[in-house]
Amino acid sequence: MREQLAKIRAAALAAFEGAASKVDLDELRVRYLGKKGELTAVLKQMGKLSPEERPAMGQLANEVRAALEEALDSTAKNLEAAALEAKLKAETLDVTVPGVPVPEGHRHPMYIALDEMKEIFIGMGFTVLDGPEIELAQLNFDRLNAEEGHPSRDWSDTFYFDADSRVMLRSQTSPMQVRAMDSMPLPIRIIAPGRVYRKDEVDATHSPMFHQVEGMVIDKGVTMADLKGTLNTVVERMYGVGTKTRFRPHHFPFTEPSCEVDVQCHKCGGVGCPTCKGEGWIELLGAGMIHPRVLEMAGIDPNEWSGWAFGFGLERTAMRRFKIDDLRLIFENDVRFLEQF
Ligand code: DAH
Repeated sequence: MREQLAKIRAAALAAFEGAASKVDLDELRVRYLGKKGELTAVLKQMGKLSPEERPAMGQLANEVRAALEEALDSTAKNLEAAALEAKLKAETLDVTVPGVPVPEGHRHPMYIALDEMKEIFIGMGFTVLDGPEIELAQLNFDRLNAEEGHPSRDWSDTFYFDADSRVMLRSQTSPMQVRAMDSMPLPIRIIAPGRVYRKDEVDATHSPMFHQVEGMVIDKGVTMADLKGTLNTVVERMYGVGTKTRFRPHHFPFTEPSCEVDVQCHKCGGVGCPTCKGEGWIELLGAGMIHPRVLEMAGIDPNEWSGWAFGFGLERTAMRRFKIDDLRLIFENDVRFLEQF
């Protein structure tokens, strides 16, 4: 029996040492110390011993049990410590490792120019309006004094949705003037940026879709001098103090008198170059005093109220602002180009 106990002790201690996990260790505990375990089996044979042998053997058996229990405890502690160590190692966060850069987008140059423009007009008390790109020809043309037969109504210039030429992609943001007159109380000060559509081939200065910023003021006693003062202020704020403008007489059906406003070419400073087609000036917008008939059609008395309006080409404005010389760059969305702003 003494030998049996010594064997169990040696085998158990060796087995504990080889345990790889707490689960293994629990199995070993049952195997050696459990009710049906090896040590218990030996103790059950105590009855067969003589009364003289029993105390010594009992003591030895207790010693073995104590030794095994102690070994189990310390092995369990070691395994726990090792597991914690491994976990800490696996989960370490090295704060010195460089981060993964998150690519950040930024505004398109045309929208940078638009935001600047909005900022300037908002500062002057204008409200910014948004309106539909699918528009009634009645608002795009009739209410703006461009009657049947006006060349801009031609099918070769305008995208119509129906054979009766009643619904169209707006060809200008000017119908927003009518929408403002129909829905807002006087006096009115608005700008209305947005997309417009015309049947144009794509080249360095044309696109079938482009952007305009419409503007309109209706109040008592406003004159062409207010229009010039306002537009000059806006141009100087956007392009720098001292930037020269030129107001040229022109014709639009909805303004009288009408003008086109040019700004001195950024490329050549007015001498003439390919960007300004040798002119020294770049056309930026159309403008004028609102035609009395347009006011009348909106139920506004032209003897009491007067107004002026303008329509900026937004792409041109951005091109002048950032010295871009090809319109296509604005729409092609080549990141190598866009990243420069
Ligand atoms: N809508 C005109 C165009 O597309 C531009 C324009 C001219 C707008 C004169 C106006 C204006 O408001 O008064 O060419």
